[in-house]
Parts: sequence; structure tokens; C-alpha cells
Amino acid sequence: MQTGLLSWIDDELANLESQGLLTNIRTIESPMDGWVTIDDRRVLNFCANNYLGLANHPRIRAAAKQGIEKYGVGPGAVRTIAGTMSLHLELEERLAAFKGTEACISFQSGFSANLATVPALVGKEDVIFSDELNHASIIDACRLSRATVIRYAHGDVDDLRAKAPQVKDYRRGLVVTDGVFSMDGDLAPLEGICDVAEESGLLVMVDDAHGEGVLGRGGRGIVDHFGLHGLVHVEVGTLSKAFGVVGGLVAGRKEIVAWLRQRGRPFLFSSAMTVPDVAACIESVSILEESSELVDRLWANAEVFRQGMNDLGFDTGNSETPIVPVMLGDAVLAQRFSRMLFEEGVFAMAIGYPTVPAGAARIRVMNSAAHSTADIEQALTTFEHVGRDLEVVR
Ligand SMILES: Cc1ncc(COP(=O)(O)O)c(C=O)c1O
Repeated sequence: MQTGLLSWIDDELANLESQGLLTNIRTIESPMDGWVTIDDRRVLNFCANNYLGLANHPRIRAAAKQGIEKYGVGPGAVRTIAGTMSLHLELEERLAAFKGTEACISFQSGFSANLATVPALVGKEDVIFSDELNHASIIDACRLSRATVIRYAHGDVDDLRAKAPQVKDYRRGLVVTDGVFSMDGDLAPLEGICDVAEESGLLVMVDDAHGEGVLGRGGRGIVDHFGLHGLVHVEVGTLSKAFGVVGGLVAGRKEIVAWLRQRGRPFLFSSAMTVPDVAACIESVSILEESSELVDRLWANAEVFRQGMNDLGFDTGNSETPIVPVMLGDAVLAQRFSRMLFEEGVFAMAIGYPTVPAGAARIRVMNSAAHSTADIEQALTTFEHVGRDLEVVR
């Protein structure tokens, strides 16, 4: 075997390290929760997308075990070949009923749900209008579809309206947006997007990964939040964030779901979610349907944190959701800030270029219903110490 063929990888990794861009992943030695154990220390966790604290909820753990008792673990193969377990159909029916859509189909992840959906809806004769800050999985899905992609300025309905008439040069058009933008915590202007889509005859797709279980009545998502039922053709979601497990979903018009069962490539060529994941997700739906207590607590925690940070003089950007960026600008400062927070027992990640624009580095704080009021107060005190030490606030 020739040894030189892979030496470029070492060079690339060394290059990333020298620029301070090498991702070092912390090892968690406990369940994912409001507090986690890292390097034998308990630290307050503000990194996970475990919005409702379901990742380690006793009912979710029990449901996963019961699912295994009844159905085993693996789905065997892809559903179109091995057959589909009744459990997967139950989850899909429960999700459609919860979200108030005609139908729903599940995938292995939110990422694969996007990869399935966009290429199934549009192809090389078509055009996609895509928000410039859309998630990587939407960008990859658009590339896979081979449709022409026209990017519009972030959250800018006027820019979309100016570009949408170009659809007449193509067979079909799709407008696609994140619902909640994960680095800033701001919302897509979905009402305006639906108006433009109606005027220009576009399909509307929203990726509600950070809105599922968070926005809308009892966590029913962004379409419910804006009261746009019937105007958004397709909602993609994830079961890995507020739902606390892993998996993806596509909910919307029944024709689209039927088409994805025929043409969604990750559905046709990759095995389904595992049994414990599906059983756990069904229980997450039950918890959400029974009460909005966890969703309410999430929003209350986020409000206390955001207000507390603003009172201390921190800049929390355009956040309108439980994702609260603490804007610092300089990437080295953000890394240092995050390290000092960690030393004082708060785990919150620094995010810099290329995930966010150069000069817009930040600490991204993910609030959760798993935190108590005392946890939020402790976090605020720690941010205050570190912020003063680093002269970010006075
Ligand atoms: C907007 C958006 N879409 C899709 C995904 C992918 O979801 P999953 O982790 O279920 O693959 C994410 C996850 O980070 C996301 O933020």
C-alpha cells in the first residue's frame, strides 16, 4: 500500500490546528441532561439541543426498554424491502395528528429527511429559492436535487419577492427556509414567505428542526406558531432535539408523503429508525400532548436568561427563541470566554468562522427545561464574572 496517498489529510488537520479551527469534542461521561459529567466534573450544560430535557426523561427511558421487549432492536433492512414495523407507522400517525398535518413519514435523522425531500420535489428543470443562512443539510439537499439555486438575503421577504418571478423560466419552484436559525435563534418570516409563494406559485418547505417541540401550541412547531396550516406544503423536523431521541420527520400534504415513500432516497436506500428510538419518540409525543408544562418552562428559562444577560450588558443579537447567542465578535475572545466558563463549571460552546461569519464569533447558549431557576442564576453569575474579567461588560 502506498503510504503517501493520505499525507494530505495530516497537512489539512495541522493547518486547521494552526488556525485554531480544529474541532475538539468533549467526552460526556453521564446521560445528556441539564448537568453533565466531563473530566469527572459536574458542569452546567448549555450546549445540547435537549430543549425539553427528554433525552434522559424516565418515561422516555422506560418506553425505549419496552419497545425493545416487544420488537427487538433493529428494523432489519430498508422498509420497502423488509416491510415496515407497525411501530414506525404508529409514530408517523401520532406525529401527523400532533402537528395537525395530513400525513407524516419518519427518517433516520433530520439531515436525511432534508436529503430525501428536496430532490424528491425538484430536479434539474426546476428552481429553488433558498435563504442564504439555511442549514448545511438543506444546502446539500439542494445540490443533490440539481435544481438551480437562487439565494435570497437572510429573512428578507422583499428580496425573495424580487427574485420569485424568475420561476417562470423553470418547470417548478420551491422556496425553502430554516424555521429557527440555529446560530442566531431568529425566526424565518414565514407569513411573508407564504404570501410570496402564493403570488408566484411556489411550493413552500420549512425545516423546523429547532421549532419542533419548541414553537407553537405545546410545541407543535413553526407552522402552528404562525397559524399557517395548509399554506406550508411540507415541514421537515428532527426528533433529535426537543423530542430527545434521534430521527427525522416530514409532515405535510399526503401527496408529498406518498411520493417520499416512492422516491425519498434515504427512505428507499437506508434502514429505518431503530425500535428503541421509535418507541421513545412515541412517548415524547405523548408527553407533549398531555401538557405544555415543559415547553412553558423552556420559554420561561430562556426569558430569564436573555433578560439577565441584557441587564448585565451582554449583546444577545436577534434571538427570539431559547437559542441565545452571546455576541463577542472576536474568535479568540470567544474561545477564551468558553474555556473560562468551563473552568467555572458552565459548558457553553464558542462558535466562530466558518459556522458564523468572520468577526461574528459568539458563545451559543442553548436553554432547556432541564435547568432549574437556580441553574440559570448560576449561569448568569458565571457569565458576569467571566465577562468582567475579559472586559466584555463592566
Ligand atoms: C436546521 C437543521 N436542520 C437539520 C438538522 C439535522 O438534524 P439531525 O441532527 O436530526 O440530523 C439540524 C441539526 O443540527 C438543524 O439545525
